[in-house]
Amino acid sequence: MNSKPLIIAHRGASRYAPENTIPAFKLAEEMKADFIELDIHMTKDGELVVLHPFLIRNMKIKELTLKEIQSIDVGILLSFNHKSTYIPTLKEVLKETNLKVNIEIKGNERIYPGIVDKLLKVIEKYPIERFIFSSFDFNILRELKKKREGAVVEGLCFSPYGKSFPSFLSGVNPYFVFVNKRMVDRMHSRKLTVKPYTVNNPFIMKRFIKMGVDGIFTDIPDVLRKVIESQKH
Ligand code: G3P
Ligand code: CA
Repeated sequence: MNSKPLIIAHRGASRYAPENTIPAFKLAEEMKADFIELDIHMTKDGELVVLHPFLIRNMKIKELTLKEIQSIDVGILLSFNHKSTYIPTLKEVLKETNLKVNIEIKGNERIYPGIVDKLLKVIEKYPIERFIFSSFDFNILRELKKKREGAVVEGLCFSPYGKSFPSFLSGVNPYFVFVNKRMVDRMHSRKLTVKPYTVNNPFIMKRFIKMGVDGIFTDIPDVLRKVIESQKH
């Protein structure tokens, strides 16, 4: 489907800055990624926050307030260069960057009741074309698609084999080790895009570009850009 895959900065340029933080997203923008990918959860007081795990310091995100979550310095965990880096809200990320955003919804309505409505409220002032929504939970994507016309939703999976992909999905994002040419062609024949995650090896990037994948999730968007450029000649 695509000779030049989209560069999707996984949790931002997360090799170089604390994942899912404003510095990682700004860096991805500087590195000319096409998209940033981020993970959202909902706090006890109903704010959408951007981070990967369900727990922080052994406490559930849904049992913490935004104030409590933002009192944690996540930068210090990685290196002193990023001291004073905090877990951002989705609103902050959308304001601070101009890039397109792949929003992965972590959890579901059982864990975070009302998360779809909350998400739609946060994004309502932006064009829907700025976003792709993804989740391992296809039910939450079905609900989102029903509530917001024009939303592009993509199904995440570990292995795509033996899995069914409902027709409301625009694409499938599998763990990269399960992606091969036959699988890509089969998905394309069903009008589904294929974007493997998370690829940080330039040789594997090259292989996927040749297979015609539509996008690649990577922690090193600068490297993927170079690989894509080098494939042009
Ligand atoms: O969207 C691709 C990737 O982010 C899915 O896995 O665990 O990194 O959120 P994970
Ligand atoms: Ca993710």
